[in-house]
Amino acid sequence: MTATLDCTITRLSDHTGAEVRGVDLSRPVDDTLRARLNQAFSQHSVLVVRDQHLSPQQVLAAVQLFGEVFPQQDKKFSLPECPLIHYVSNQDSYPDGTRYIPGAGYHTDHSNAVAPPKATVLHAVKLPDRGGDTQYVNMHRAYEDLPEAMRHRIDGLRAIHVYQSRYSTRKLMTLSEENRKAVPDAVLHPLVRTHPETGRKAIYLNPIRIEGIEGMPEAEALLLLDELLEHARQPRFEYRHQWRPGDLVMWDNRCLLHKANGDYDMTQVRYLYRIMLKGDVPV
Ligand code: SIN
Repeated sequence: MTATLDCTITRLSDHTGAEVRGVDLSRPVDDTLRARLNQAFSQHSVLVVRDQHLSPQQVLAAVQLFGEVFPQQDKKFSLPECPLIHYVSNQDSYPDGTRYIPGAGYHTDHSNAVAPPKATVLHAVKLPDRGGDTQYVNMHRAYEDLPEAMRHRIDGLRAIHVYQSRYSTRKLMTLSEENRKAVPDAVLHPLVRTHPETGRKAIYLNPIRIEGIEGMPEAEALLLLDELLEHARQPRFEYRHQWRPGDLVMWDNRCLLHKANGDYDMTQVRYLYRIMLKGDVPV
């Protein structure tokens, strides 16, 4: 049986997120439904597809309705049975033994790539009883709400993105020598990028990876980046996703920041499948 157009798509906030019900992504999806889901993704930036119970191979097939798979920089978290799918888990530790919460702290994924992933998908496998939400910030809204003088100031600036900014408060796992070779040392991306599908502008920030702004003294650049982040973090730009069993959530890295919350009982397992989709060079 093919998934049909009988699905419903309902907004989750006035600016970000839509809930999709009535689709079974383990079944083939026809072109009309595929176009509708892609259109909803461009419009709402976060799609929450409810009630999916997918194997890694089924997640891999489903996400290709939206684009091509982007290879992960750190292969350490690959699933052996399906290496293009990675996992997010609260059961891993840094080499010094402290717990590693992947995705804590606002960021956009892999912005140190020349063409960063347009989207990231998580599928819940095991969730804590409460907490562990994923927070999103709508960077279109944050940009549009800036004073005109600030928009004028940042339009045309380019930020320097590296694997791990020396100013980041969150530490990433160190890449193996082999994985590090595949990652550029630094790339420049516009601080204000234009969404390739909607034409809307967004602030393109990443506190974990941005190390400076091209041609700007370091102290001035850090102040500006902090000011933009403080502005963007205001609750009115946020959509906070409370996970439910069966959720498959896909978000748009071109116009959102996101972060994981490690605010739950760590004796409970939080485990999700994760995969990203290729994007364009930001302009
Ligand atoms: C991520 O940043 O990819 C993980 C987000 C989450 O676990 O909520």
